[in-house]
Amino acid sequence: MAQHNADRVADWNGQSGERWVAHQARLDAIAAMFGQAAIEAAAPATGERVLDVGCGAGASTLALAARVGAGGQVLRVDISEPLIARARARAPQDTPALFRVADASSAELPEGAFDILFSRFGVMFFDDPTKAFAHMRRALKPGGRVAFVCWRGTAENDWMRLPMGAIKGIVPMAPPDPEAPGPFSFGDPERITRILTAAGFTDIAITPFDASVSFGEGATRDAAIDGAVKMTLEVGPLSRALADQPDDIRARALAAVRAAFASCPGERSLMINGATSIVKARNPAS
Ligand SMILES: C[S@@+](CC[C@H](N)C(=O)[O-])C[C@H]1O[C@@H](n2cnc3c(N)ncnc32)[C@H](O)[C@@H]1O
Repeated sequence: MAQHNADRVADWNGQSGERWVAHQARLDAIAAMFGQAAIEAAAPATGERVLDVGCGAGASTLALAARVGAGGQVLRVDISEPLIARARARAPQDTPALFRVADASSAELPEGAFDILFSRFGVMFFDDPTKAFAHMRRALKPGGRVAFVCWRGTAENDWMRLPMGAIKGIVPMAPPDPEAPGPFSFGDPERITRILTAAGFTDIAITPFDASVSFGEGATRDAAIDGAVKMTLEVGPLSRALADQPDDIRARALAAVRAAFASCPGERSLMINGATSIVKARNPAS
């Protein structure tokens, strides 16, 4: 499942990006509660300038822009052209937000310009996270703050633990490297602390934030489960594991994931636990 940087950039600009756009409404609904917890941790104030890293289709930026108001500013940076296009299309004309299609780990950013470095699930994909955070830190004002939300490990996230367990034995998968760039690479809070400390941040505080969220909804329970299965197999690590598999393997994997999800509660929905870390840190004052 490990991908190299160039593959990942191509992926976010190709099939992954397009599928994220297609599933945007449900993905936003899943991320909303976690993103809100990160926004509260960031505590954006009127007039502040925010850098939203890996902003995707831009839901978090809309919320941030509302908090900083017309006198503030949100710069959205994302490596994916289709996702930034979606974010642009959703932004109200009068929202004080700017857009940049770029790799945040190396993008040219104004120095000492931002009050807040924010991300909702967008900072786990860097090849060299320490270098990336050191680079992004230079865009923060002295004393500027960091607030982001990231997933903890797969063992704690049923939305990935259940389908991964279900397809084990059907689809050949290398054992996942917990530190390889990807959604779970910040699963270990000690690793996050090491990365942020080495990148020059202080006052690091990491708090668990867990919630049960709806991974599928529909007119019937079956429709809700079908929606969750389709999204799980089309977006994220499992989509890559299944990409080159023959139809019979894909069909068996789909049936196995469906059976695993059927154990989750919900009436016309499919409620699954998500486990995240809310991370706060500070750029030293001088
Ligand atoms: C899991 S999605 C989260 C998107 C969005 N923040 C949200 O919550 O809906 C991760 C996002 O990070 C972006 N991304 C990945 N690597 C990046 C990089 N090196 N620089 C900027 N954006 C990146 C992807 O294109 C994708 O939009």
